[in-house]
Amino acid sequence: MNKNIIDFNKRESVRKNYDLIAEQYGKDFGTYIEDLDVYEEFEKHLLEHAKILDLGAGTGRTYSYFSKKGYQYIGLDFSEEMKNNAYKIHGEFPYIVDDMINLKKYFANDSLDAVFAAYSLFHLPNDDLKNLFCDVYNVLKPNGIFLFTYQIGSGEEMVDEPYLKEIGKNVLYMHYQSNKDIKNLLSLFSFEELFRKEKIETSDMAINANSIVTVFMLVKKIK
Ligand SMILES: C[S@@+](CC[C@H](N)C(=O)[O-])C[C@H]1O[C@@H](n2cnc3c(N)ncnc32)[C@H](O)[C@@H]1O
Repeated sequence: MNKNIIDFNKRESVRKNYDLIAEQYGKDFGTYIEDLDVYEEFEKHLLEHAKILDLGAGTGRTYSYFSKKGYQYIGLDFSEEMKNNAYKIHGEFPYIVDDMINLKKYFANDSLDAVFAAYSLFHLPNDDLKNLFCDVYNVLKPNGIFLFTYQIGSGEEMVDEPYLKEIGKNVLYMHYQSNKDIKNLLSLFSFEELFRKEKIETSDMAINANSIVTVFMLVKKIK
């Protein structure tokens, strides 16, 4: 089968999954903020009213945090139901429903101060992840910042969705990275590392079939 179709099917498994679990995800995580130290590091590099794009915005917990602080927040997620539940919880706010691989359709080069992607890029196949880093690099202004997470491991697999019990066996595409993979990926672009934190996942709801370590990484675009 054509590789583009295979990669599309992997991403589709993710979109369908989040459409199914959106309501419960919103109840559990819609306003739940953790890892405040990461948010604080991120904000150290933001100017007042900075424009932040949240990739894989889900049910809007990041919106609730950043909008209160006066930043211009835009969410992007390809699950219509995650957006609907975000609106139920927070009211309407700027939210693009599309696959993040289409990011550059919406943003000009050098137009964003910051991109935030928590617990979302581990659902992208390899080539898509590489292209996404390139797109994020291009849409960021010089000195713009990019916060992303990855889960330590290697390769890809279909994992169980914890919310879906019996029908949720092997339904969700995950892709793990080693620290070296990420270092190599970053080396393709002029990104400078600002901050890195490793976190052991302990929640039953963590999607962590072959990895329990999440890495938060903050980098800056340098020209
Ligand atoms: C685990 S949730 C995290 C949501 C949010 N960032 C949070 O921390 O609560 C992953 C989100 O990424 C979104 N997502 C995954 N792959 C995506 C893609 N290719 N394009 C757009 N959204 C995607 C899913 O729909 C889901 O809402």
